[in-house]
Amino acid sequence: MNTILITGCSSGFGLETARHFLAKGWRVVATMRKPDENILPDSQNLRILPLDVTDLDSIANVVREAGAIDALVNNAGVGWLSTFEGTSQEIIQRIFETNTFGTFEMIRAVLPQMREKRSGVIVNVSSSVTLKPLALLPVYTASKAAINAYTECLALELAPLGIRTQLVLPGQAPSTRFGSNARALMAEAKEAPQDYKPFVDEVMSAFAENAAKEPTRSEQVVSAIWRAVTDLDCPLSLPAGSDAETMFYQKNLIHTGYTRVGSVTCSMANHAN
Ligand SMILES: NC(=O)c1ccc[n+]([C@@H]2O[C@H](COP(=O)([O-])OP(=O)(O)OC[C@H]3O[C@@H](n4cnc5c(N)ncnc54)[C@H](OP(=O)(O)O)[C@@H]3O)[C@@H](O)[C@H]2O)c1
Repeated sequence: MNTILITGCSSGFGLETARHFLAKGWRVVATMRKPDENILPDSQNLRILPLDVTDLDSIANVVREAGAIDALVNNAGVGWLSTFEGTSQEIIQRIFETNTFGTFEMIRAVLPQMREKRSGVIVNVSSSVTLKPLALLPVYTASKAAINAYTECLALELAPLGIRTQLVLPGQAPSTRFGSNARALMAEAKEAPQDYKPFVDEVMSAFAENAAKEPTRSEQVVSAIWRAVTDLDCPLSLPAGSDAETMFYQKNLIHTGYTRVGSVTCSMANHAN
């Protein structure tokens, strides 16, 4: 039986991913900052362990306690929506410690066992916001774009050792606690200079309007994580949710020198001529 360790299982994608893998007969190590035995079904295949990904001792303990694992899903993360000037150095540190350095250190901790057995899969949950520039997201996007670049490079050095490295890029999913957790953090923040206010209000209401359409649902993210873990031929990056898919294909078309006009795909080189 295969074992998966998932970070950030107290809510949202992490919790649903733990439920899904349990239902599929996997052994699941569901980790949380504050373990809660009541949010997942009773199962002899489930272990709930404490983990704060910003704490190296906590990481070392959880990896030791978990024993052999076949898959690691780095899902724990915090959101942040503000201008750069409205973001203190301390907040930047907190965002990067969780979203970026937490992921790095989890991977560092599991690699020796995966390297030794020449197998394993690591899935990093990034974000579709990395696919195009968006206002009020310079810090959060930077924390996740670093994960994309890191994962793409890491995949090259781990593949010869039999270890797969994957990215899942979810779109905007308002049904998780992501928004309320980010708002709690934002409540501690310093105010952005008033000069930004009209623009910030406009962007915030566009986000709220988009969220009301629920462009990404948790089950789409869970499906992408399932595929990333179980499909040996899975592409390195998987968008999850209709908004993420649109952004992903638009970006890829631009990178390959093609653009879409209505339903027609045109070569940008031809346009330039
Ligand atoms: N929802 C979206 O729109 C969206 C879109 C794109 C990407 N994402 C990414 O998807 C991932 C999951 O987000 P979600 O939407 O499921 O949000 P969520 O419901 O807020 O879940 C985030 C999880 O991360 C945990 N966490 C936060 N800081 C941690 C730390 N230092 N150590 C360990 N766990 C920590 C939280 O635990 P606590 O309960 O202890 O805070 C929670 O379990 C995140 O990486 C997020 O950046 C979300």
